[in-house]
Amino acid sequence: MFEKGQAEFTFFSPEWHEEVSSTNTLLKERVASGGVLSGTVLAARRQTRGRGRMGGDWLSSREGDLTFSFYIRRRLPPAVMATLPMACALGVCDFLALPPWRIETRCKWPNDVLANEAKICGILAEGGVMSDGSMGLVIGIGVNLRDYPDRDGILGRLTTYMGEYYENIGDAPTLLPLLLEKLAGRIREWDVAGFSSVRADFESCLWGVGRHVTAKTGRGRVAGTVDGIGPNGELLLHGTHGETFVVSSVSALEEDG
Ligand code: BTN
Repeated sequence: MFEKGQAEFTFFSPEWHEEVSSTNTLLKERVASGGVLSGTVLAARRQTRGRGRMGGDWLSSREGDLTFSFYIRRRLPPAVMATLPMACALGVCDFLALPPWRIETRCKWPNDVLANEAKICGILAEGGVMSDGSMGLVIGIGVNLRDYPDRDGILGRLTTYMGEYYENIGDAPTLLPLLLEKLAGRIREWDVAGFSSVRADFESCLWGVGRHVTAKTGRGRVAGTVDGIGPNGELLLHGTHGETFVVSSVSALEEDG
């Protein structure tokens, strides 16, 4: 996976903003105008129009969450790049496991992070093929610190925040370098051999194993018991007749009643 001459992945110092519409939107605009280096990080104390997966919103209150986006560019097929957010979700789990807060988490496929069944972090990856044929991704991460974003569609679902586990968690600018260090570690691992480098860890922290779920996909609903993760990051469900369903994209994954 490593390209010849490719340096080990590192982040640049985060560029902090008081308020932006969305760190993903702003970074994507920058990328479109050119000159953004892989590893660039843009963070905001407040987003006014934060965005979530599948066209949802990610609403923030000041200091309520840690919101940032970074840019990464690789000469890899889109299907391989699509697994990078899963490696990032693991990096978030590593960060949340740090002392003193030591929050135990699970990755809900493909890349939500849950603590005690409640969502604590969301990840939004956006990008495409660049003019030189490489893939550029803007990966936006929102971690609930003292509050939780009232994301459309998430209302009524379980949501949590770091402050529920540890009172003095510190502010977003203090926490971001710790999170970036853990993310960089997982990205370096992923850089070695793509998803196969992180598959075992992802599977061991996978949410819902053995539970019956319904996945809403572009081609309808698929119901089955969560079995594990395929070699390319797909979700494997076990059907009632012993069949295996290989799910590669979902708009929603819900546990059945
Ligand atoms: C989701 O759970 O649907 C993904 C939410 C991603 C939210 C983050 S916050 C930082 C970045 N900027 C955005 O507008 N969205 C992402």
